Amino acid sequence: MKKILCIFIVLIVLLASAGCVGVNGGQNTGTGVDNNTVQSSNDDKHHVLVAVFSATGNTKRIADSAAGILNADLYVIVPEVPYNEEDISYSTESRAIREQSDPTARPAINGLVPNPDKYDTILIGYPIWYGQAPRIICTFLENNDLNGKSLAAFCTSDSSGIEESLEYLHTLVPKNVKWLDSRRFPAEASGDDIRGWLDGMGLTAATVAE
Ligand SMILES: Cc1cc2nc3c(=O)[nH]c(=O)nc-3n(C[C@H](O)[C@H](O)[C@H](O)COP(=O)(O)O)c2cc1C
Repeated sequence: MKKILCIFIVLIVLLASAGCVGVNGGQNTGTGVDNNTVQSSNDDKHHVLVAVFSATGNTKRIADSAAGILNADLYVIVPEVPYNEEDISYSTESRAIREQSDPTARPAINGLVPNPDKYDTILIGYPIWYGQAPRIICTFLENNDLNGKSLAAFCTSDSSGIEESLEYLHTLVPKNVKWLDSRRFPAEASGDDIRGWLDGMGLTAATVAE
């Protein structure tokens, strides 16, 4: 009888402790989940970089606005040899036309993106030059590790669309790059136009990590 009582007590203790482990485990897991939730909600946020090359300021203005709306980091692509007025003139002898006619041209960039691994999403802006992105954008895409990142391009132009430039840029990045909605803006695009584009990609100040 004493033996049975002992076994009974041991069983109760075991069950209770199992319950406790469950509860403690639950609490621990709960805490873990809470921590994870905090972390994952942080991780769920996009780490966005707005990178831009702009020769006369139009695309930079769009980039400033996008970075401002998202509270995202801005990186200005500065050419090692700056473009002067003559370089970007419509003359058939200009540096711009020479570079744009040479698909292998890769003008050097002055300075690197600080902490490039930090970003999972890059919005890359440029003016359309003879239907294409300026070759310095190719330099940027080929000199940064874009594996697994999400990318969206934005451009300004007098009238050309972004499609032709995008087709070429797609060939320069790793296959596992996820392209988001790329967009052409007129130079005078409004803040609402830019916000609408970002919203459409699920990018708002609330979904972008600080
Ligand atoms: C060298 C050069 C080539 C251009 N080629 C085109 C073109 O093919 N199509 C177009 O619509 N606009 C073209 N433009 C106009 C620019 O895309 C437009 O002015 C743009 O907003 C300039 O942007 P930015 O101020 O950021 O440099 C060209 C401008 C330059 C300087």
